[in-house]
Amino acid sequence: QRGFDQKIDYVFKVVLIGDSAVGKSQLLSRFTRNEFNIDSKATIGVEFQTKTLLIDHKSVKAQIWDTAGQERGAVGAMLVYDITKRQSFDHVAKWLEELRGHADKNIVIMLVGNKSDLASLRAVPIEDAKEFAQRESLFFMETSALEATNVESAFLTVVTEIY
Ligand code: GTP
Ligand code: MG
Repeated sequence: QRGFDQKIDYVFKVVLIGDSAVGKSQLLSRFTRNEFNIDSKATIGVEFQTKTLLIDHKSVKAQIWDTAGQERGAVGAMLVYDITKRQSFDHVAKWLEELRGHADKNIVIMLVGNKSDLASLRAVPIEDAKEFAQRESLFFMETSALEATNVESAFLTVVTEIY
């Protein structure tokens, strides 16, 4: 907007991938707008949101794509599973393969175990995820888009590592 010209030093493309219903869209809306929508609909089509961050006195615009198939040119990725759905974790290896086949070679990848607020329904031990992440050289965090736990931290880690 006029009078509010912000110089953007860098634009980084980040993609959110993972099974349906793991919470990708809610993680994105929590990060960019601090919102959570209880009855969110499945994402159809291509959507992205941006958020500008200040890192090292530089303004970095994160352009975050909420869909698979947009990996080209991505320098960061959040690979999300649901800690209450074992299957969503079992599919992580497939998603990783797809990501590594299409994205930048040096892409920074964060494995994200979402819905940490549902601890009593946990189906994926944190150790399993940590081990997988270590083996594949991924960052790893458990998050809750609902309770806003670790969401900012997960995105900031990815963007800072890209930078
Ligand atoms: P697709 O668009 O189909 O790929 O799904 P998605 O990964 O974008 O999932 P979405 O963000 O739409 O969330 C799916 C469901 O999980 C919704 O009912 C959300 O309210 C719920 N949900 C998302 N994040 C959390 C969370 O951190 N905790 C809990 N308890 N529920 C969550
Ligand atoms: Mg979605």
